[in-house]
Amino acid sequence: MGYKINDELIERIRDTIDIVDVVSRYVNLRKTGSNYVGLCPFHNEKTPSFTVSETKNLFHCFGCGEGGDLITFIMKKENLSFVESIKFLADMYNIPVDISDNSSYSEAKKEKEKIYKINREAGLFYFYNLRKSPKPLRYLKDRNINENIMTKFGLGYASDSWNQIYNYLRSKGFEDKDIEKSGLISRKKDNTGYYDKFVNRVIFPIIDIKDRIIGFGGRVLDDRKPKYLNSPDTPVFEKGKNLFGLNIVHKNSNREKIILVEGYMDVISLYNYGIDYAVASLGTAFTQYQARLLKRYGKNIYICYDSDDAGIKATLKALNILEKEEAEPRVIMLPDNLDPDDFIKKYGLEEFKNLESNALSSIDYRIYILRQKYSLNRAEEKIKFIKEVAAIIKALKSPVEREIYINRIASETNISKEAIEREVLGNLYKPSITIYKDKYINGKIRNNKNEITPVKTVLESAHLTAEKNLVGLMMKSRSYYDMVKKHINKEDFLNYECKAIADIIYNEYENNPLLAKLDIQTLMSRLEKEDNIDFEIVKEVAELDIVAEDMEKLIRDLIKTINYFKLKMERKLVANRIKQLDYKKDKEKGDVEELKRLCIRLTELDKELKLHI
Ligand code: CTP
Ligand code: MN
Repeated sequence: MGYKINDELIERIRDTIDIVDVVSRYVNLRKTGSNYVGLCPFHNEKTPSFTVSETKNLFHCFGCGEGGDLITFIMKKENLSFVESIKFLADMYNIPVDISDNSSYSEAKKEKEKIYKINREAGLFYFYNLRKSPKPLRYLKDRNINENIMTKFGLGYASDSWNQIYNYLRSKGFEDKDIEKSGLISRKKDNTGYYDKFVNRVIFPIIDIKDRIIGFGGRVLDDRKPKYLNSPDTPVFEKGKNLFGLNIVHKNSNREKIILVEGYMDVISLYNYGIDYAVASLGTAFTQYQARLLKRYGKNIYICYDSDDAGIKATLKALNILEKEEAEPRVIMLPDNLDPDDFIKKYGLEEFKNLESNALSSIDYRIYILRQKYSLNRAEEKIKFIKEVAAIIKALKSPVEREIYINRIASETNISKEAIEREVLGNLYKPSITIYKDKYINGKIRNNKNEITPVKTVLESAHLTAEKNLVGLMMKSRSYYDMVKKHINKEDFLNYECKAIADIIYNEYENNPLLAKLDIQTLMSRLEKEDNIDFEIVKEVAELDIVAEDMEKLIRDLIKTINYFKLKMERKLVANRIKQLDYKKDKEKGDVEELKRLCIRLTELDKELKLHI
């Protein structure tokens, strides 16, 4: 083997790759207690005896006795040597195999270890400090928080002193530069020393799923501002990548559901009443990364933000972010401007559960919010309402769902179904058959006889619009065509009509070097040879009137959109194929090869898709 493998690389692989993530690519795992179980991939069985421990990073089959860590797993599963498995995993997770890149890794790791230690010492200090401080104890008691809950969440107190934690950590032998990196102290402006970040505040340690304190939140005991302070981002703490309470969910939850709330106290209060599956985003806007975490920890995802204006805005944003991850979040709606903490204290667990089971789907929620915004008995507001609702319905992929909502809005507003339908579909686009299928290849599909036949594809609307615009622009000028063709092949157009037009455009410009633009007549005469063309779409494209300040930028953006959807579709195909192969009982050698290739491709695609966000 030509690769050099050193200990740091191996350590890095064991540290950063989650065994559950790796094994999940091969085996359907289910969470039970603190472990995951599934059907053993190494022997034939009907009841699962294959166990994976995330915390120990090990797997074991009680049926056949196979066991080991993630590297062993890949060795066995892929029939690779140790070194090859390392390379395989490094490829899959994008870990550089270059040794020089990895030596800085162990430096960074040492730095992190030190900060974890400091955080732990500080957390313990705050924790014991709370026990001997009547004022914050009183405050927490008034908020319904008992000893048990305090201990469970490791709550603490930072006294009314500007150097308490600094002095304590110094006395424990930590150095200024390391304490500073933990974010617990700040350097004075005149550079004469440090002062504590958290002063006279209740302390909420933020703990990761490996039970390490990664940061802190601190709340004042009265009405002073700012109400909450949080640790800054540090080498061990990236706000956008963590959730408060995830350590608890990780331990307790069966992954059935998870609730996203706004605040520390919401998580704690819900827990106090028996809801041990709530997490809070940490005083920052909810991120794509956090969306992925939620997906991982809950089959059903609920958002339960405060019911004030800020909460509604944040909910709509979080819905968007979650939907980008193809989650189907629901919204728990609280009455009277309450937050979950207020609500459950006032009405109790049963009522909260009641709201949970009545949570709205994202579309219902969006429509509900719009209905609040407009007063439907005034004509012009009704029009605005319908236009906005139409835009929401248009984004729905399923025609059945679209129909249901169109009917509902029609009866609610007393506007005819047809009118709303027209508003939803515009005059652009009659949905046609067949959505992305496995067998689907660039606008063609293989039928049973394995012949390739054209197929009409339903595209997401942003994608369809981008295709139409690009095709329309290319017709208008060769210079636009020149820009587009550098990035997009004619086969890349997926809408049946756009693809047919693109075909003609590419041919015409290539065969007639002097042609400056493609006129409608030529286009129409060429199209006559094609079957099944929807001339409404052709007309729409040919008559497009596009004005833009920066046409090049517009074109670049359109190309980006198309490429994004192309990647998304490929991802879907790859993921489906992986599933298919995974379900296959007796995998042949070729299947294993293919799986390996697909897994790598999936990782690549996810990486590329991330760049588009
Ligand atoms: N937050 C923050 N910084 C602030 C205010 C809020 O980081 N200055 C974050 C905290 O994580 C807080 C959450 O946003 O928990 C929600 O804030 P808010 O609704 O204002 O507070 P509550 O959660 O209702 O807090 P409490 O019940 O303690 O008053
Ligand atoms: Mn509150």
